[in-house]
Amino acid sequence: MKRYLITGASRGIGRAIALKLAAPDVMLLLHGRDTVALAETCRAADKSGAKTAKLIHDLATFRGIDDLVAEVGHKPIDLLVNNAGIAVVKPFAEITREEWEQTIGVNLIAPFFLIQHFAPRMPPGSSIVNILSIGAKTAYPNWSIYCGSKFALEGLSTAIREELRSRKVRMLNIYPAATDTDIWNAVSGDWPREQMISAADVAEAVAYAIGQPPAVTIENITLSNTAGTL
Ligand SMILES: NC(=O)c1ccc[n+]([C@@H]2O[C@H](COP(=O)([O-])OP(=O)(O)OC[C@H]3O[C@@H](n4cnc5c(N)ncnc54)[C@H](OP(=O)(O)O)[C@@H]3O)[C@@H](O)[C@H]2O)c1
Repeated sequence: MKRYLITGASRGIGRAIALKLAAPDVMLLLHGRDTVALAETCRAADKSGAKTAKLIHDLATFRGIDDLVAEVGHKPIDLLVNNAGIAVVKPFAEITREEWEQTIGVNLIAPFFLIQHFAPRMPPGSSIVNILSIGAKTAYPNWSIYCGSKFALEGLSTAIREELRSRKVRMLNIYPAATDTDIWNAVSGDWPREQMISAADVAEAVAYAIGQPPAVTIENITLSNTAGTL
């Protein structure tokens, strides 16, 4: 049975990826903080015959990262999806130290240390998927801390990809355009949610990428909006 670890699976893109990959031969290790929402993801995944486990940890802290690693255990995983993320959107002059720590913690430090821990134990042909953003390639005003965390994760993962080639572990970076999820609830401004791509669209791309033959790595997928940047 394959073991897939997905962070931030309680809602949004992470939940959509979990439901897309749910299958009878898969053990889904589903991470989040919201126990009720995560239980809902598990219930939906169970219907596809997947085995599920709920892992509740705050990834903004090293303690939360360590506890997640401990709960996943020693058995290797076949897929790590670094998806959990937050968006603090405001002028750079107003960003607090706490917002800095939270954003860098969840969006950058946690993915790095999860890759560092799990990659050496992953079998050839397995995959690490990082949910980046078009904000990992393009800078926007008021998105400094978000873009900074995503640009940095792109740099780290792209370099680590080279280190993992000899072990045949694949590093896949996904760059979605604005996607209609709860992450936008806390972003001020008028964002046309109905014009955004969907979480299911992103999950489709992830499933396509990891479904390639083990010798093939789809290194980067950019999901831009056909209608243009919103
Ligand atoms: N939506 C977009 O427009 C868009 C576009 C490009 C890339 N992305 C990226 O896609 C990823 C998923 O975002 P989303 O749009 O699906 O957002 P979302 O609906 O807000 O979901 C975010 C997920 O991250 C988890 N999370 C947040 N803070 C956490 C913390 N401190 N510790 C552990 N988990 C935490 C949440 O868990 P709980 O709810 O359980 O706390 C939730 O499962 C993010 O990395 C985001 O940057 C999003």
